[in-house]
Amino acid sequence: MKAAVLHTLGKPPRFEDFPDPHPSPDEVKVHVKAASLKNIDKAMASGSHYDSHSELPVVCGIDGVGVLGDGTRVYCGGSRAPYGMMAEQAVVSRAWCLQIPDGVDDFTAAALPNPALSSWLPLVWRAQLKPGETVLILGATGVAGKLAIQIAKHLGAGRVVAAGRNEHILETLPVLGADATIALERLDQELTVAFVREASHKRFDIILDYLWGHPTEVLLDALTGHDLKAEFSRIRLIEIGEMAGPTISLSAAALRSSGLELHGSGGGGIPHTAIFDAFPQLWALAASGNLRIDIEPVALADVEKAWQRQDLPGRRVVIVP
Ligand SMILES: NC(=O)c1ccc[n+]([C@@H]2O[C@H](COP(=O)([O-])OP(=O)(O)OC[C@H]3O[C@@H](n4cnc5c(N)ncnc54)[C@H](OP(=O)(O)O)[C@@H]3O)[C@@H](O)[C@H]2O)c1
Repeated sequence: MKAAVLHTLGKPPRFEDFPDPHPSPDEVKVHVKAASLKNIDKAMASGSHYDSHSELPVVCGIDGVGVLGDGTRVYCGGSRAPYGMMAEQAVVSRAWCLQIPDGVDDFTAAALPNPALSSWLPLVWRAQLKPGETVLILGATGVAGKLAIQIAKHLGAGRVVAAGRNEHILETLPVLGADATIALERLDQELTVAFVREASHKRFDIILDYLWGHPTEVLLDALTGHDLKAEFSRIRLIEIGEMAGPTISLSAAALRSSGLELHGSGGGGIPHTAIFDAFPQLWALAASGNLRIDIEPVALADVEKAWQRQDLPGRRVVIVP
């Protein structure tokens, strides 16, 4: 079969032949229709992710959409290594084959789950959003951030503040439901003032953080309290991505004075039942046209070039075998 084959960590995969997969008894073979190309696929191939590929060569792609032998269309949450979803065929455990309703097309079904779950699970399961609460999204101009705005509003957030770097995309976020936007690309002092102004308007209850690194440090500095007798508050910060850096410097004062609670959300930190519970609701939202995601289909043969494209901000590439 044809596949996106990775030979060396740190290099893009190549379009080439790879042996056909054969399912074991608890697996099924799928004929792949679409597989999304995300930051995690790139991080695993670069060697920088905590679950980077350890066996090479390997076919890239951690999720996608395929068709079973009986014609059922399924979302597949990963193929057994060395097989991956960016290929004509993959082998998937039965538990991770989830039927896709007719109202959701292949490209949407392949692109949506990873970025949509990235905010759904933190809001529903980890932070347990209450109706009317204020949600700040750091990194709101990316695919996951734009979905997070829509999902937070759908789940009952009272106010959604979208912070991002790309000013052109930032201007479009109110249409998706953002009540306020904060431009990140500015001097630290100005950014601190912007965070403080927003937080004093209505304090942040939940922060969905796709960036980490310096923007998070500036935010936490802005949230650090200066009043020993201040009223009790709670801010649940959920670390989801690390686009701006893998580490932060965290002052003790930020933790003691702000009611800050630090959590993370990612594979290995969430029960599978919470993930499976979310799918029917995500499919229903997508089928009713209430979740917007911008998609760029690319042929599998062009995967090597697609891997290196930087010209698609806020759009998700979907690899099509
Ligand atoms: N934990 C999970 O379950 C989970 C699930 C999905 C995604 N993620 C992670 O979440 C992150 C975002 O995913 P995505 O799908 O939205 O990616 P994306 O579409 O590529 O968007 C990346 C976002 O990060 C911003 N960004 C990149 N470098 C930055 C920097 N140095 N300073 C400030 N902003 C910066 C981009 O801003 P511009 O628009 O200005 O370029 C954009 O908003 C990734 O790290 C991804 O791996 C985690």
